[in-house]
Amino acid sequence: MFVQEKRPFYHFDAHADETWRILFERQFAKVQQRACAWYLQGHEILGLTSQYIPNFEPLDVLFQERISWELVSTDVQYSDGQTWFEHLRERQFLITEYIRERETLDYTPLPDIFHDAFGHLPMHIHQRYADLTQEYAHLMLECTQEARPALGSIWWYTIEFGFIKERGELKAFGTGLMSSYAEWDLAFSDKMERRPFDPADIGNYKPSPHEMHKVLWVLEDFDQLEQFVAQQRQKYR
Ligand SMILES: [Fe+2]
Repeated sequence: MFVQEKRPFYHFDAHADETWRILFERQFAKVQQRACAWYLQGHEILGLTSQYIPNFEPLDVLFQERISWELVSTDVQYSDGQTWFEHLRERQFLITEYIRERETLDYTPLPDIFHDAFGHLPMHIHQRYADLTQEYAHLMLECTQEARPALGSIWWYTIEFGFIKERGELKAFGTGLMSSYAEWDLAFSDKMERRPFDPADIGNYKPSPHEMHKVLWVLEDFDQLEQFVAQQRQKYR
């Protein structure tokens, strides 16, 4: 096991719960319309509620029993890529102890508890999706230094900000989209350029967490991303 002794999960105060409630209620109305099926199913499986920030002890048990992953608490506000991927490789999802301030409800460049729990966890409770992130983590940790920036961009524009087609309809699956009130409407609007998933194309873009996106990419299905990761991993075996 990667972490010998797990640190206890942080329990948020009433002020943080109220921030969570505001974020949850306004964003859930949006995602219900246009999030992918896995995401919405994941919400139900986890039993997320607007009333309070989830209790991560039972959620950790659920993750362990259902998909053999675990949730791990961290007091680091923004884990660097290396740390993040090392944990994913060990089937551990890091849970931060930080929630955005009321002045920055619309957009936060730092991933907070709303991003982690509302954005990531409903996707991550699906075995196939979680395994895909583990495969991607192996790839990120095994690839050459030269290949890393492009692979990081592809992670960003799929796992964090990806769209997917479902029965011909455009749906969001990226967790950064799920947790960003400011960017959600823009992402679905005519102002956003949306392109078919193309790793070579995405690899030329360097994402910035400090500005809104101008172009995003659309997967045909999850097979497309799984196949890409599998092909890439072959290179480094
Ligand atoms: Fe994220």
